[in-house]
Amino acid sequence: MTERTLNLFGNTPRQLKIVNVASVPQRSPFRYAGGKTWLIPRIRQWLSVFGGVDKVIVEPFAGGGVVTLTAVMENLVGSAIMIELDRDVSSVWKTILEGEGSWLANRIEGFILTQENVDSILSTSPVSIREQALMTIVKNRVTRGGILAPGVGLIKHGENGKGLASRWYPKTLKKRILAIDKVKHRIKFVQGDAFAYLKKYANRDNCVFFIDPPYTKAGRRLYKYSDIDHDLLFQLASDLKGNFLITYDNEAEIQRLARKYSFKTRTVPMKNTHHSEKLELLIGRNLDWVM
Ligand SMILES: C[S@@+](CC[C@H](N)C(=O)[O-])C[C@H]1O[C@@H](n2cnc3c(N)ncnc32)[C@H](O)[C@@H]1O
Repeated sequence: MTERTLNLFGNTPRQLKIVNVASVPQRSPFRYAGGKTWLIPRIRQWLSVFGGVDKVIVEPFAGGGVVTLTAVMENLVGSAIMIELDRDVSSVWKTILEGEGSWLANRIEGFILTQENVDSILSTSPVSIREQALMTIVKNRVTRGGILAPGVGLIKHGENGKGLASRWYPKTLKKRILAIDKVKHRIKFVQGDAFAYLKKYANRDNCVFFIDPPYTKAGRRLYKYSDIDHDLLFQLASDLKGNFLITYDNEAEIQRLARKYSFKTRTVPMKNTHHSEKLELLIGRNLDWVM
């Protein structure tokens, strides 16, 4: 049951506008496939109703973590818990949030991005979590679309023919990491399974949950872990005491699950990396706050 859909002819007064992502502060050290920077204005609306200094945001499929970072840095919540299964992605969060952010930032600043250095770092097994974090950040900057799943190819021509280094902005990355370092005492990270943590925090009424699972079709290509039980996820969401917001691709199967659990849905327009417009789905118990 879609309450409101994008009206391509523009004659509905409540039509949702596409967010210009350039107007949203980029806070994550990752360029993340399926990242939610474009959703940030809606996250602010959501947390202005359900957030607050006494609230903890729980992000069980954290990925690039832009929602958690924004919620904490803009004081929309008091603190946060991020959960992610992927070891490489986790190594970055552990390194920054467990106190080695300056080390990582300095190593990124000192890394000369040449084909030889990239080949060398990507072919060496990291000996520590922080070395793994450095390798992951480099990989995330040189693969097509920032994809970290096995088998992804490297950027060839890149932006303006700048090749492999076209997404390598060491000073910007350093700044972002040091900004996260400043709020690290308010963010807890766990490498683990989203489902276990949704159960663990189900009875906590001071938690709000931002749930952004791997999508049904695209997920397989984008993430190492993409095969999840969508029905079970909806069931666990329906058991949560706290408020939640789920995002998904706008697919019939997901609309069906939302109906099955009596959740509300709303489509929002966004532009994907190829600049074509598509609709994504917001799901919750109450979406009256979406403007
Ligand atoms: C759509 S992405 C999240 C993107 C994130 N919201 C952002 O803005 O960057 C989904 C993430 O869920 C992770 N994931 C998949 N299965 C998981 C599981 N069972 N538990 C925790 N994380 C999982 C994937 O590794 C991926 O990073």
